[in-house]
Amino acid sequence: MKHLHLLFIALSLISFLGRVALTKFRPEMMQIKWVNIAPHAINGVVILTGISLVFQGHWLEGEFGWIVAKIIALLGYVAFGIMALKLTDEKRWYAFGGALLLFAYIAKVAVTKSLF
Ligand code: HEM
Repeated sequence: MKHLHLLFIALSLISFLGRVALTKFRPEMMQIKWVNIAPHAINGVVILTGISLVFQGHWLEGEFGWIVAKIIALLGYVAFGIMALKLTDEKRWYAFGGALLLFAYIAKVAVTKSLF
């Protein structure tokens, strides 16, 4: 289950980077249906495998602040991700940077199981 989680996290990052590249270099491809649907399916698997890992590892029985932090940072990653795809001027690149920083923070929290 953890490997599935990790695989889809990698796919999620690749699909996000891919779509940012498409909006910049091949915006017409963003009209293609599967280009827009696939990331939702991928991110859905990340969340579902994450939730099953929480139960499998009995993570709610101990100190679970890191899981709450992961979920909040995930919401921020999604919000910045949407902004990076929708904004047009240089603001997009701030949002893009914010999304990548939050992604790195989520990965760090996941590995250390601690907030800082
Ligand atoms: C972009 C989103 C996410 C990223 C980058 C991410 C990253 C990771 C990484 C790198 C690991 C492996 C940690 C290790 O080997 O010790 C992991 C495991 C885990 N993740 Fe995620 N995750 C994400 C989303 C979620 C979500 C939404 C949840 C739950 C609601 C979640 C819950 C877990 C749990 C419980 C583990 C297992 C920890 C263990 O058994 O050691 N993750 N995640």
